[in-house]
Amino acid sequence: MSAPERLLAIETSCDETAAAVVRRDGTVESSIIHSQIDMHAEWGGVVPELASREHALWIVGVIDHALSTAGVTAADLSALAVTVGPGLPGSLAVGVSAATSLGLGWNLPVVAVNHLEGHLFSAELGEKPVEYPAVILLVSGGHCMLVHAPERGEYRLLGQTRDDSVGEAYDKIARELGLGYPGGPVLDRLAAKGDDRYAFPRPLAAQGYDFSFSGLKTAVRRRVEAGAFDLEDLAASFAAACCDVLLIKLLRAIEECGPKSAVVVGGVAASPILRNRLQAEIPPLGVELMLAPLKYATDNAAMIGAAAWWHLERGDAAGPALGIHPRLALLSAGG
Ligand code: KG4
Ligand code: ZN
Repeated sequence: MSAPERLLAIETSCDETAAAVVRRDGTVESSIIHSQIDMHAEWGGVVPELASREHALWIVGVIDHALSTAGVTAADLSALAVTVGPGLPGSLAVGVSAATSLGLGWNLPVVAVNHLEGHLFSAELGEKPVEYPAVILLVSGGHCMLVHAPERGEYRLLGQTRDDSVGEAYDKIARELGLGYPGGPVLDRLAAKGDDRYAFPRPLAAQGYDFSFSGLKTAVRRRVEAGAFDLEDLAASFAAACCDVLLIKLLRAIEECGPKSAVVVGGVAASPILRNRLQAEIPPLGVELMLAPLKYATDNAAMIGAAAWWHLERGDAAGPALGIHPRLALLSAGG
């Protein structure tokens, strides 16, 4: 009998309860996501206590659905994979307990996956394999970082945000404007109809690779408090400032590192405004642009499965320990 070629991956680090069946060759046989957005929208952001309770309610159903959609049972799996951090402690605990119990019950190994590495692998779920060396920009609600990857799975941190992530700035501004949660999609829709005419700052644009979005957020707030503004122009000016900063840093990294590809992943990589800017500016440099496929840009379990396969293939036992690691970094100390 040939060895099963698929694993079941579980992701519960924030407000999506997700499970996916992923084959060794990267084929995603199912990717099920139960989003809690509607529940948290009422509060203007993710409420950790509610998130963990909702994960506990949905996790078994989501896993069942992932297996049945892929048309497989436990006997067809060779491993489990689960996000162990970073993320909300109570939310992570639900996914890790589910994976650990299933691992014991089904006698399968459980691979612990770093959520950030999962995002970095999301671009591997596209039509073409990512060519290395690569420069990877991760832009999500929880994180904003620029990474140089000389090889698949090898990372050198170039820079990261000193305060808010870009998605967080989108979400906070949308909340203040009463536009609901998450802020990215709604602000982007408004921005598409406006003009960049409020001259917001481009924080840290002239320096290095670190990001800072809290000053930009304050500049938007001040403009709102000053009264009489056009909402579409405000959104367009904010999105343009975010995109400018992200592009400036990415182009700087491309110039310094000379990669074959530029990879952009994370929830904000779903932004059509950012995607268009990237499409216009990166390929003319002779660098392959690899965007996370839209359905794998925001949180999902398929990307966790892809990262887990990489570790299984290498037989590397050096990943994070199985357990919850709410503040897990991308690189371990000294890495
Ligand atoms: O990667 P993700 O699902 O979760 C984290 O790991 O944080 O990213 C969620 C973030 C939210 O801040 C949301 O506002 C943002 O991604 N986002 C967008 C868009 N869709 C989601 N930002 C800009 N434009 C979008 N279309
Ligand atoms: Zn994420």
